[in-house]
Amino acid sequence: MAGQKKLLRALAGETQDVPPIWMMRQAGRYLPEYRATRAEAGDFLSLCYNPELAAEVTLQPIRRYGFDAAILFADILLIPQALGADLWFVTGEGPRLSTITTESDFAKLGPASDIHETLNPIYETVRILSRELPAETTLIGFAGAPWTVATYMIAGRGTPDQGPAHALRMENTALFETLLARITEATIDYLSKQIEAGAEVVKIFDSWAGSLKGEAFQKYALEPCRQITAALKERHPGIPVIGFPREAGEKYTGFAKATGIDCVALDNSVDPAWAAAHVQVDGCVQGNLASRHMVSGGQDLVDDTRRIVEAFRNGPHIFNLGHGITPDADPANVQLMIDTVRNG
Ligand code: CP3
Repeated sequence: MAGQKKLLRALAGETQDVPPIWMMRQAGRYLPEYRATRAEAGDFLSLCYNPELAAEVTLQPIRRYGFDAAILFADILLIPQALGADLWFVTGEGPRLSTITTESDFAKLGPASDIHETLNPIYETVRILSRELPAETTLIGFAGAPWTVATYMIAGRGTPDQGPAHALRMENTALFETLLARITEATIDYLSKQIEAGAEVVKIFDSWAGSLKGEAFQKYALEPCRQITAALKERHPGIPVIGFPREAGEKYTGFAKATGIDCVALDNSVDPAWAAAHVQVDGCVQGNLASRHMVSGGQDLVDDTRRIVEAFRNGPHIFNLGHGITPDADPANVQLMIDTVRNG
C-alpha cells in the first residue's frame, strides 16, 4: 500500500504510526477566510451552489492546516431541496423546510431521478476539487442518512428529540417508510454522481441515529446504510464508505460488518479504549475528540488527543472530532490538535 494516500491506507485496514487526520465541518465559520467567502457568496445556500466558491472554502482548511482529507462543501439538506422541498436557513437558528406529514405533502416531491438538475453544481464542485487538491489529499463526498434527512423533512427544522419524525413513524408507518425509501434511492444516485465526479471516499451522516432504539435502529438506521453501501459497492467497487451512526452507543459494535461500510465514525460519548476493543476489531474507526477542546484548548486538549491516539494505535484509525467544530472554536487550537497527533 506504499505510495497510496494516508487516508485511503487507513480505510484499507493499515495501522499507521501517525494516523491521518481531518475534521468534521473543517470548512466553517471558525475560519475568517470562510466567513469572507460566505459573505462574497451572499448566503449559505448560494455558497453551496456556487462551484468555484464552494471549492474555495473546501480548500481553505487544506491550505491552512494540511489535513489528509478534504470534505466536499455542501449540506445534507440539499437532497430534500432537490426532491422538491422548500429549504431556507434562518441566521442564528438553522434550517427550515416545508413539512411532510401527510400523503399529499409527500405527493409534491419529485422522483429521485430528478435530483441532478438541482445538484449538478455540487458535482462540478467535486470536479474542480479533484483537479485542485494536493496529490496526497483524499477527497470525501457525503450525504445524510435517510433517517436523519427525514427528521428534518418531517419536522421542517432541527428538533431536540426528533419527536415529529418518531410520531410519523408510529402513526403512519407506511408513509414514513415510503419517504425513507425515496430518500434512500436519491442518496444512492447522489453519492454515485459524486464518485463519478471524483470523490474517492463517501461518508453517510446519521446524526440522529442515537434516538432510534432497539428494532427501530436496525430498520431505519442500519438497514438504509446497508442498502446504500451495497448499491454503491456494486456500482463503484473499491470506493470506501464511512458510516456515522452518531450516538449509537453499544450499537456501534458490529455496525461495520452488518452494513458493509469500511469505517465507523465515533462520536465523543464513546470511550476510545472500549471502541478499540469492540469496534476497531472489525476495521478502521474514525474519531473521536470532543469538539469543545477546539474552544477551550490547553493541556486538556493535548491530553485527550494523546489518549485517543494511544487507544487506537494498534489498528486502523483516522483521527477526527466526535462531531463538527463549532463557530466559537479558536483556529490555533486546531493547529495544537494536529501538532499533537503528528508530533506526539
Ligand atoms: O464538514 C464540512 O466541512 C463539509 C460541509 C458540511 C456542512 N454540513 C456545511 C454546513 C457537512 C458535511 C454538513 C453536514 C450536515 N448538515 C449535518 C450532519 C452532520 C452534523 O453536524 O450532525 C447536518 C445535521 C446538517 C444540517 C445543517 N446544516 C444544520 C442543522 C445547520 C445549521 C446549524 C449550524 O451549524 O449552523 C447547517 C448549516 C451548515 N452546514 C453550516 C455549514 C458550514 C453553517 C452555515 C453557515 O455558514 O451559516
